[in-house]
Amino acid sequence: MKIYLGIDIGTSGTKTLAMRGDGKILCSAMETYPCYSPKPLWSEQDPDDWWQATIKSVRKVMRIAKLKPADVAGIGLSGQMHGSVFLDKNNNVIRRAILWNDQRTSKECGEIEDAVGGRDKLIQLVANPAMTGFTAPKILWLRNNEPKHYEKTRKVLLPKDEIRRRLTGEFATDVSDASGMLLIDMKKRDWSNELIDSLHLDREMFAKVYESEDITGRLTSGAAKLLGLTTDCFVVGGAGDCAAGAVGNGIVSTGTLSTSIGTSGVMFVHSDEVRVDPLGRVHTFCHAVRGKWHQMGVNLSSGGALQWFRNSLCHELVKEAAKKKVDVYELMTNEAAKVQAGSEGLFFLPYLSGERTPHADPNARGCFIGLTLSHSRGHLIRSIMEGVAYSMRDSLEIFTQSLGVPVREIRASGGGSRSPLWRQIQADCFGRKVVTINSEEGPAFGVALLASVAGDEFSTIEEACKKAIKVVKTTNPNSKSVKTYNNAMPVYQQLYKSLKNDFKTIGEL
Ligand code: XUL
Repeated sequence: MKIYLGIDIGTSGTKTLAMRGDGKILCSAMETYPCYSPKPLWSEQDPDDWWQATIKSVRKVMRIAKLKPADVAGIGLSGQMHGSVFLDKNNNVIRRAILWNDQRTSKECGEIEDAVGGRDKLIQLVANPAMTGFTAPKILWLRNNEPKHYEKTRKVLLPKDEIRRRLTGEFATDVSDASGMLLIDMKKRDWSNELIDSLHLDREMFAKVYESEDITGRLTSGAAKLLGLTTDCFVVGGAGDCAAGAVGNGIVSTGTLSTSIGTSGVMFVHSDEVRVDPLGRVHTFCHAVRGKWHQMGVNLSSGGALQWFRNSLCHELVKEAAKKKVDVYELMTNEAAKVQAGSEGLFFLPYLSGERTPHADPNARGCFIGLTLSHSRGHLIRSIMEGVAYSMRDSLEIFTQSLGVPVREIRASGGGSRSPLWRQIQADCFGRKVVTINSEEGPAFGVALLASVAGDEFSTIEEACKKAIKVVKTTNPNSKSVKTYNNAMPVYQQLYKSLKNDFKTIGEL
């Protein structure tokens, strides 16, 4: 049976997964790398780190699954969205890539809106307002702040598409990831020449856009040798990690919603048409399903908030976990599980890198509010998990109450949803049952499935998902906790409003 690899260029690391043509996952391997923050609210990575992690993780899965080079028919690529890789005329990387959670581009967002005659006009053109994390404002930032680098720039690629270039030599992207550059005409599923011209950018900078399951090229002999594969191996368009994760979670029809708690938090719904939020709070992008779209709300620090707490304030627990050979998150969530729903009046605002949905505010800050002498570390941990769930409920309310999006089933995914406590908090906070499926591999699985469609294992991605994905667990809401969270939600929402101006002042200190 043919094998397909899914490679996900994430923020904390690159994961490669090997899947059989019938959708059965064989194994996966992860290689991590650092993230640089040279100034507050800046976030950068080195594309060479992604490349080395790709080579290592591919070689690792080949070894673990005992695969021969010719076994692998195709590769699907997924990656953190919106990151900007700037290449010169010799395809050398000019500077470190600026990532999705970087907040340096407020001024450029205003410049983009002005260039087309305002925010509403921009939403009409590309279905979304300018957000600091998106790619177009990053290109303008480079032009405004590092003109020498900008002059040298010939191509701007997204993270996974830079890896594709190194694998195949092609400049290509896919509709879902390209949507996050803010330069795509969503109906046309191709570049918006009108916006590109208004911003005085060169159309040649941008890669050719493919549907996610289309073949964009085959491995060069150099790449095949490095990875231990063959030059027959094809690479499909793939998808941004949100759309890829949604496919890997079976979100390919109307009425299904996925929640994902990775570094960021994502609420994702499928859509058969281009449905736009006139207020621009949630994004409207092309889906990785041919001819379909999606809407999503993105919280910049979700699992990332708990990771920050672990790194900064749980040194003892990290040591204890190493001694007991258990995951430190297990020890942390055990402490949180002893605390009642609502964390006895303690709230956490998870805006550690500013926030995207629903506030689109780079100045927003993380906060613990409501501390008393009786609160313990367990309360702090639980309040972080609850703060993340409240921030996801913000998006859920926009979908269901404001935009009338039907939500029949909620599927929880991402590292955070592996925790039974975090799944329960989600079910209680949303007041709905939450299910999980037979795979926790998310984006890497989604793009391996897309590659298997290109390899003729299935006729459509919908068919692939139907055959490979099954719901295996259900978490039902607990009515007492639902009540607690329903009472707490308006307080959580009011806290941002109360602090909004103070956040701005703090940023100016
Ligand atoms: C999506 C987004 C994040 C990154 C993280 O819009 O910014 O989810 O894709 O990988």
